[in-house]
Amino acid sequence: MKIAMVGSGYVGLVSGACFADFGHDVVCIDKDASKIASLDQGVMPIFEPGLAELVASNVKGGRLTFSTDLAGSIAGAQAIFIAVGTPSRRGDGHADLSYVYAVAQELSEHLTDPVVIVTKSTVPVGTGDEVERIIAESGTSAQFAVVSNPEFLREGAAIGDFKRPDRIVIGAEEEWAQGVMKEVYRPLFLNKAPILFTSRRSSELIKYAANAFLATKITFINEMADLCEKVGADVQDVSRGIGLDGRIGAKFLHAGPGYGGSCFPKDTLALLKTAEDYNSPVRLVEAVVKVNDSRKRAMGRKVIEALGGEARGKRVALLGLTFKPNTDDMRDAPSIAVVQALIDAGAEVVAYDPEGMDAAAAIMPGVTMVANTYEAVEGADAVVLVTEWDAFRALDFSRVKRLVKAPVLVDLRNVYDPGELRAAGFAYSSVGRP
Ligand code: UDX
Repeated sequence: MKIAMVGSGYVGLVSGACFADFGHDVVCIDKDASKIASLDQGVMPIFEPGLAELVASNVKGGRLTFSTDLAGSIAGAQAIFIAVGTPSRRGDGHADLSYVYAVAQELSEHLTDPVVIVTKSTVPVGTGDEVERIIAESGTSAQFAVVSNPEFLREGAAIGDFKRPDRIVIGAEEEWAQGVMKEVYRPLFLNKAPILFTSRRSSELIKYAANAFLATKITFINEMADLCEKVGADVQDVSRGIGLDGRIGAKFLHAGPGYGGSCFPKDTLALLKTAEDYNSPVRLVEAVVKVNDSRKRAMGRKVIEALGGEARGKRVALLGLTFKPNTDDMRDAPSIAVVQALIDAGAEVVAYDPEGMDAAAAIMPGVTMVANTYEAVEGADAVVLVTEWDAFRALDFSRVKRLVKAPVLVDLRNVYDPGELRAAGFAYSSVGRP
């Protein structure tokens, strides 16, 4: 089957490469000529484990190509995916749909039938209706259907998530379009990945509801962590103790500095906007957004406390800057608020991140970026573990202790054992543990 993927960013590129790997004939399209030129040379625009290899093998196999020419690339495609960005609109938090609608408009002028237009971008309820209206009003004679198929890919684990999904959600009302989507996902279907067919609006909402629920789960355990610190309990035991209840589930119960990234912050805000538009408040999610925002700033204060309440003139080493490991993505990373709090309090901040420093340097001009962990900790009054990269999971603490000015470690991801670190002579603090 021929598939066109419009938008070769994170979602489009991973999905396109995986579809090609299933044996489909895929063209990934993007308006950004330099991105397409780089992809043609095997250079990935993002860091995602396994992606470069997957792209290379499918290009070599003749199943994956790249193009800037939408009109010339979609002929004969039975499914055309829209996977362009839907950033938060400045000011009101609403998802900016201008890229999605521009693609719909352009597609409408070049459709050959029959074709299924699939919205993979995260879009508010009702967007599929608008895409359908735009195409229908163009007067195209092609038979088309507009369906919703949200992605649930985690950065850093996106290929595995695509190939072994918990479920595939497809919002398609027409039977023939459901048939095309079954063909698209047949390899996964055969692997018994559950495919859920719903109405288009339900499918659009599933994506936001899933992300808002996960953001809520994280925020819940983060507040329990704060309570643990006050009452002398251990949040990791609390997580385990509640997570073993099958109704709750053990995943997404790791306390930390607050959620960040390209999805949860943006999607929770967009859900609130939809709720407001339909006059149906989701107060729980409103609270989650507020609590998470204030948490990120509170982490900066936690570091200052570990410095004895005074940060002026102190040197703080941050290990990790990205919002989570195995990505170079800095969007809404908790480190941004931590850095701001430390710089406002007069600290000197030095940082090392395995992949995120280029992106971070652009938004944190006041931070000195260094080439490795041990260079970062040299002369530090406090070391802060911000992102749980594997590279920070087995630090040589006797070496760290020799290099730092004061052996103070703030572990915002609860990677280390408090007893062991204290025995090694560190003033150690973490999140929600005595
Ligand atoms: C998320 C969703 O998981 C994915 O399904 C969706 O399609 C896109 O958004 P992603 O943003 O890549 O994926 O990362 P994820 O692994 O979900 O982590 C999001 C944030 O939550 C990170 O900042 C992470 O550190 C934080 N987190 C996650 C926690 O603080 N505790 C947890 O237990 C889990």
